[in-house]
Parts: sequence; structure tokens; C-alpha cells
Amino acid sequence: MRRVVFNQKGGVGKSSITVNLAAMAASQGKRTLVLDLDPQCNATQYLLSAKFPDGHERYDIRPNVGQFFAQTLSFKLKESSLADYVHASPFAHLSVIPANSELMEIEQMLESKHKIYKLAGALKQLARDYDEIFIDTPPAFNFFTLSALIAAESCLIPFDCDAFSRRALYTLLENIEETRQDHNEDLFVEGIVVNHYQPRASLPVKLVEELRAEGQPVLKTTLSSSVIMRESHEKSLPLVHLAPRHKLTEEFTSLYDELQALQHQRSTKR
Ligand SMILES: Nc1ncnc2c1ncn2[C@@H]1O[C@H](COP(=O)(O)OP(=O)(O)OP(=O)(O)O)[C@@H](O)[C@H]1O
Ligand SMILES: [Mg+2]
Repeated sequence: MRRVVFNQKGGVGKSSITVNLAAMAASQGKRTLVLDLDPQCNATQYLLSAKFPDGHERYDIRPNVGQFFAQTLSFKLKESSLADYVHASPFAHLSVIPANSELMEIEQMLESKHKIYKLAGALKQLARDYDEIFIDTPPAFNFFTLSALIAAESCLIPFDCDAFSRRALYTLLENIEETRQDHNEDLFVEGIVVNHYQPRASLPVKLVEELRAEGQPVLKTTLSSSVIMRESHEKSLPLVHLAPRHKLTEEFTSLYDELQALQHQRSTKR
């Protein structure tokens, strides 16, 4: 399954959810890949921190996805396979294609040269080697997120339960539908995953109920807020390795199981 984790709103949990679901899949023996398309490089840093020198601000693990895109701009170069950009992570069955901070610098050039389908072609080939591919995206509807939505089969939407996020969610769902119609008829919204959920606070509960009543695909599993997430980032240890019995880890297990069950339902319906 090629899955993009996307919401153009910042800080909703895209990178945290991408990495922790991927680590969960890998811990169950699935051949798993994380593709980082965000120049902030958070997923890359989370999984490959050992490759960053201490205090190094510019993320430049080589080879990286920026180099993959850059080579598509030169018609003289033979097109390389995405497999050439894969790094092993410290965790069994889990590999990473790192981002780099130069992605931003080449974005306009890629756009003007219409390279929007390059990732899709390369990722479909690479997908034969993996059971699960998770794509982390930047907080913007830009060249890289559109490339990811064209390359993916499903889109998982993290949602952080406030009124601004709700407005952004409708725009996001429209953008995904437009992408499906114009570029990728296989794309579907796998679900909206509510992050930072507070089951005892009335506003978030009401908001989630309203979204469900509207027929939005809000997943059953919700993720609570916990400081363990920050610790997990700091130690570069996904929750399944840092705190396998923690409540938030158990919620990630339920989320992964729910996504697997939905996937199974879809494949049997076809
Ligand atoms: N369930 C959670 N509990 C506590 N902290 C969380 C949780 N989910 C995310 N965070 C924290 O919130 C911050 C933003 O999370 P994250 O970086 O995953 O969001 P993002 O959507 O990828 O952000 P960006 O849009 O900048 O890429 C991080 O500091 C992360 O540790
Ligand atoms: Mg992020």
C-alpha cells in the first residue's frame, strides 16, 4: 500500500503519525519504507538521527529525494531508480528515503518543467519491493504534495480537532478529490485520524461528532496527547520501541489494525 499522510495545516502530527505507523508495520515484519518529502526533514531526522552530526542544522543525508528530483531536470542523465536513494534505518524491515533542505530551491524549476508524474512512475516500480510505503509531506498543497497524491493509493489525514482545522479540512478534501479526478483515479481517502483527542473536553467531542454526522470518514481510533511523543522524537525512537506498553503506543497499534482491516474490506469488495 502506498499511503500519503497529508494535511496542509502545520503541526497536526503528520510526521509523528507517518513514522510511528511505519515503525509499527515494520515491527510486525512488513517490508516498510518511509519517503520524506518535507524540506523540514522531520521524519528523516526521527529515523536517521545517527546520520546527523550533533547540532547540524542543514539536513543533507546523501543520497536523498532532492537529488532524485534534481536528476529528473537533466535530460542528459539516465533516469535513476528510487531504489538508489534508500537508506536502511536502525530498525528491522524499516527503510527511509530522506528529504533534504534543498527541495524548496528546486520546486519552481520542477513545476515549470512539468515533472509532476516523475515520483509516481518511480514509486510504482519501487513498490514491488515493499509491503507498506508511507509518505510524509510538508504543510502545503505544493508540487511535492501533489506529486505524492499522484503517486499514492491512499491518503491518511491527521486532524487536530480545532475550528481552524475544520475549515482547512474541507479545502483539503476538495483538493484531494480534484487530484483524484484530474490525475489519479485510484486515490482514496483512507480516513481522518483525530490527533490530540481529549475525550473529556466538550468542544473536541462535539466537533468529532459533527464531522461523523456529516459523513466524513473519521476513523474510530483517536490518538491522545502525551509527552512521550516529544521524548520519542528526542531519542529518535518510535513509540513501539521506546514505550511498547504506553497508552499512545496502544492507540497506534489500534490505528494500524483499523487501517489494515479497512484495506482488507476494500480488497474483498473489489
Ligand atoms: N499525540 C501527540 N501527543 C503529544 N505531542 C504530539 C502528538 N502528536 C504530535 N505531537 C507533537 O506536535 C508537534 C507537531 O507534530 P508533527 O511534527 O508530527 O506535526 P506535522 O504535521 O508533521 O508538522 P509540520 O506541518 O510542521 O510538518 C511535535 O512537537 C510533536 O512531538
Ligand atoms: Mg511534519
